[in-house]
Amino acid sequence: MKRTLLVLSVAAAVAFAGNGEALVKKHCAGCHMLEKPEPSEMGTAKAPPFDAVIFHVKDAVSGEEAQKKFMVGYILAPDASKSVCESNKVAQFGLMPSLKGKVGEAELNEIAAYLLKVYPHPEFVSMLREILTNNRLAALKASPFLINSDNLPHMTKMLIQNWDKAKLGLTDEQKEKLLKIRKETMEGVGKIRRKLQMLELDVADAMIEREDPKSVEKQLEEIAALKLEATKIHLKCISDTTAVLSEEQVAVLLPFWE
Ligand code: HEC
Repeated sequence: MKRTLLVLSVAAAVAFAGNGEALVKKHCAGCHMLEKPEPSEMGTAKAPPFDAVIFHVKDAVSGEEAQKKFMVGYILAPDASKSVCESNKVAQFGLMPSLKGKVGEAELNEIAAYLLKVYPHPEFVSMLREILTNNRLAALKASPFLINSDNLPHMTKMLIQNWDKAKLGLTDEQKEKLLKIRKETMEGVGKIRRKLQMLELDVADAMIEREDPKSVEKQLEEIAALKLEATKIHLKCISDTTAVLSEEQVAVLLPFWE
């Protein structure tokens, strides 16, 4: 008798584990990719791959029960202001349609438990780290600024990623002001960036042609002056943006400023 019970419960556990996977294939795989995405596939999908989704869920919500609850709640009632994906990503993919009435809550709990157990794959996490490092290096290489400290953040980029988040709670009036600051900043820095590219090419060409460094001193001075100007625009953007935000909003965006 005892033995049959044990066998039964092992069988039930196996069935339970297998069920999560089958449910995910049935209800989610049409949009969310189940395998680790290649970097090139990230831009063309209908929805973020589960590796990325669960990476963000685990990053944003702490504790497995809370993570499950968040996922089930989101799937039944998707909401851009609660999304753990960046606001610009939600805009890119469109909001997830609600699965209310299509998948029961018990099934959703099984699905969530399965996803949290399997994702993100370790290879995905290392790929993501590599992409982030490369992006960071590329950004530094192309930076028109004199100071590239983490403590001088790119406010416009951070705002785009958090634009619709309930946690940040931007009002329409704030959004309008921030869009103006963003436009001024992007235009100012964009112009300088293009000039800098030309000047830096000139300097490199001169060295390749074995010319006297003195022949490019004028260009060097221009480069320095342009970088100074870009840095002033960057600082003004930080100061204008933080002036529009409340202290609480600044703390949401810049926890490392405390
Ligand atoms: C019709 C396409 C579609 C289906 C089917 C679908 N999703 Fe999504 N899902 C999306 C899109 C698009 C997003 C990204 C936008 C967003 O976050 O709302 C998303 C985002 C998510 C997120 C992240 C939420 C957040 O905080 O941004 C979770 C979790 C999620 N889906 C789980 C599931 C699960 C589990 C299933 C199956 C039960 C499923 N989805 C089925 C399209 C879909």
